[in-house]
Amino acid sequence: MSLKRKVLELKKRRDQVLLGGGEKAIEKQVAMGKLTARERILALLDKESFHEYDMFVEHEARDFDMDKKILHGDGVIIGTGTVYGAPICIFAQDFTVAGGSLGLMHARKITKIMDHAMKLRVPLIGINDSGGARIQEGVNSLAGYGEIFFRNTAASGVIPQISVILGPCAGGAVYSPALTDFVFMVDNISKMFITGPEVIKTVLGEEISMEDLGGARVHSEITGNAHFFATSELECFDQIKKLITFIPWNNSKKALAFAPKKPKSKYKIESIVPGDPKLPYDIRDVIRAVVDDSDFFEVQEYWAANIVIGFGRINGETVGFVANQPLVLAGVLDVDSSDKAARFVRYCDAFDIPLVTFVDLPGYLPGVDQEHAGVIRHGAKLLYAYSEATVPKTTVIIRKAYGGGYIAMCSRHLRADFVFAWPGAEIAVMGPEGAANIIFRKEIMEAEDPEKMRKQKIKEYKDKFANPYVAAAKGYVDAVIDPEETRKLLVHAIQVSKDKTVYTPNKKHGIPPF
Ligand code: HXC
Repeated sequence: MSLKRKVLELKKRRDQVLLGGGEKAIEKQVAMGKLTARERILALLDKESFHEYDMFVEHEARDFDMDKKILHGDGVIIGTGTVYGAPICIFAQDFTVAGGSLGLMHARKITKIMDHAMKLRVPLIGINDSGGARIQEGVNSLAGYGEIFFRNTAASGVIPQISVILGPCAGGAVYSPALTDFVFMVDNISKMFITGPEVIKTVLGEEISMEDLGGARVHSEITGNAHFFATSELECFDQIKKLITFIPWNNSKKALAFAPKKPKSKYKIESIVPGDPKLPYDIRDVIRAVVDDSDFFEVQEYWAANIVIGFGRINGETVGFVANQPLVLAGVLDVDSSDKAARFVRYCDAFDIPLVTFVDLPGYLPGVDQEHAGVIRHGAKLLYAYSEATVPKTTVIIRKAYGGGYIAMCSRHLRADFVFAWPGAEIAVMGPEGAANIIFRKEIMEAEDPEKMRKQKIKEYKDKFANPYVAAAKGYVDAVIDPEETRKLLVHAIQVSKDKTVYTPNKKHGIPPF
């Protein structure tokens, strides 16, 4: 056979694989409002950058008539490409081929591209759309998942791992995304759960739809499993692309720097925060007032909204922001917000992204619910994460910094490199009202006019402690600053911290309060 004819045969073979599970299955996929696996890869990656491998891999299963079935590519596409020029490794499960179910060869393709990503030190993107373990392949499928989970863990903190849920992701399959850094979900398309509605009906007698059990909204608002919520696949791909611009390709590189830009003039930092400490405001406006082009890329926007986390740039360089949100629950720390912030701090630390923390909180949320939900254990995660982090850490105390909240939000004592406070900052063991009620209880009770006495004592306490100068006098705060100086000082802090070096004691690893 001439080479020309061999090339023609190659094209024919390729075309067959490109049909995936066939026209009918593709029609069903489209009818569900979903793109096909290949369309997804092409929409996400830079034009003509995608190169596919292992397209002729075949499954080896023989039981249950599997020997009669041709499963093109064994239901998963793997390859390399670029996103805005950044090299990446990618896999996308093809639901049109046996429901994207994971058999032995399917798993081997995924682990091969994961190993590639680790060797090449580039981000890994996994698009999940699968009925889970291929039932006909038994323990081989389970082995496949185990191999994936092991690699997810080994790669954690070395290369960015991004999971995209674009269909079902059920049973043990959910644990691979859960081990990765960022999970993207799309309304009405993504479904993620351990036990499906059928099992729940059988075991518990309860009826629930897949969407209500584990749809994108559930995981973005209630469980916190999803980091990004989109209303369409294309919007989701735009979010992934934007994330890639903010993070480094691996843990020995810095995120690419951009040309510095000033914040937009509509965000006037001096007029965002109300003078009355009881009035709320949107902390994201403060972040927008200091980041380049006022472009703040929020992570986990809809879950534990009493704390805000996300990326922005200061003078062209990526920074991770953690900030209390006075708009929600007065910005208190609780079980979920501690978890959310702690994990983000660890992400930034692993990938050499400097941290900026904005503080305005009345402390930890009191109550039986929180105590019984383990606020001690969860709250400790944040202390651990900040203490452990060796990236440059800058803290700005905007208004309230009370009690344990003051310490936990990257105080000097957890080794913030720079701590700045606005003149309206109140740094104390607790709010003036609570403090006066406790330490002056006797005087208040015995006074002729207890209300008048209470007000007088609150004022006394406020005058003494509800300001930044007591902390500044001890050097816990490095400088009390005019709010308008905030960006200038952040630019400076990040610039002078570039070669920050911290010597940590030799140990295998710590034991954080997971
Ligand atoms: C083999 C599967 C499959 C699976 C789907 N298919 N899931 N084949 N193993 N796990 C096949 C179907 O037989 C069908 O093949 C095709 O994929 C499309 O599936 P449909 O059911 O027609 O699609 P749809 O109606 O959209 O429903 C999708 C679904 C449903 C909700 C995902 O297929 C489903 O419930 N599947 C089983 C899910 C599950 O229980 N998986 C195992 C979880 S246990 P044909 O040939 O008819 O087109 C698990 C353990 C892992 O994953 C533990 C790791 C630690």
